[in-house]
Amino acid sequence: MRKIGWCITGAGYFLHETFDVMEKLARTHSVSCFITSAGERVVRIYELRQKLNKICPGNYYREVILESEQEPSFPIAGRFLRGTYDALIVSPASANTVAKIIAGIADTLVTNAIAQAEKGGVPIIIVPSDQIGVKKTRLPYVINREICLKCEACTIIALCLYEAIVLSDGLPKIDLTKCEGCGVCLKKCPHGAVTFGQRVTVAPRKIDIENVKKMRKNKNYVVLNSPKKIPKTLSKVL
Ligand SMILES: Cc1cc2nc3c(=O)[nH]c(=O)nc-3n(C[C@H](O)[C@H](O)[C@H](O)COP(=O)(O)O)c2cc1C
Repeated sequence: MRKIGWCITGAGYFLHETFDVMEKLARTHSVSCFITSAGERVVRIYELRQKLNKICPGNYYREVILESEQEPSFPIAGRFLRGTYDALIVSPASANTVAKIIAGIADTLVTNAIAQAEKGGVPIIIVPSDQIGVKKTRLPYVINREICLKCEACTIIALCLYEAIVLSDGLPKIDLTKCEGCGVCLKKCPHGAVTFGQRVTVAPRKIDIENVKKMRKNKNYVVLNSPKKIPKTLSKVL
């Protein structure tokens, strides 16, 4: 069975699509996930932690490797130099990670994995979150201030197990640095003031589009405009 090192960064865009593809590929490939600290948080916010554990149950070649649990110099990234994995996929790749790749910076688990994979000649497939064509993204849990009735005893502040809902200027607000994506607030607000997955229009920054263009010119990377294209591309590079 072919072995894939799958890098996940802190991008909400393409995250659900990435997980759908990853789940399918994990039936025929061994998938290990390398996740940045921001990625770990975003995976939780979008309620994907359980799905991740099913895809990577923990045995060798099917592990979840968290940046937050690694040493700063990321010796584990050396696996990409030693030929442990047959391919490296970065999906979704945040604008931050793309900028670092372009600048040759390796200071996170994922940028180090990429640096080592390049040195080791491992095929690298990248799906940037912020690129031309990206128009709509989904918001995480949000409290709609127009619907919120500012109840004196706010039900969801009391019910949130992670103390992720706090009062700010007299209004409840979700602290995404604490949110675990459990969805209790969505179900329990008596006024339906919490939304999840609301679609909003986004315009990628010029600099991010330029960075993706530069990345496409580098022969070491195969850059895709959707996670759906990963399986076909993978079968070509393996
Ligand atoms: C809920 C949420 C969604 C985000 N979605 C994106 C995104 O789609 N694209 C992006 O470039 N950054 C996004 N970010 C910001 C990144 O997480 C942030 O830039 C982070 O520093 C990226 O770090 P990393 O590249 O090491 O993973 C999001 C942040 C949050 C909290």
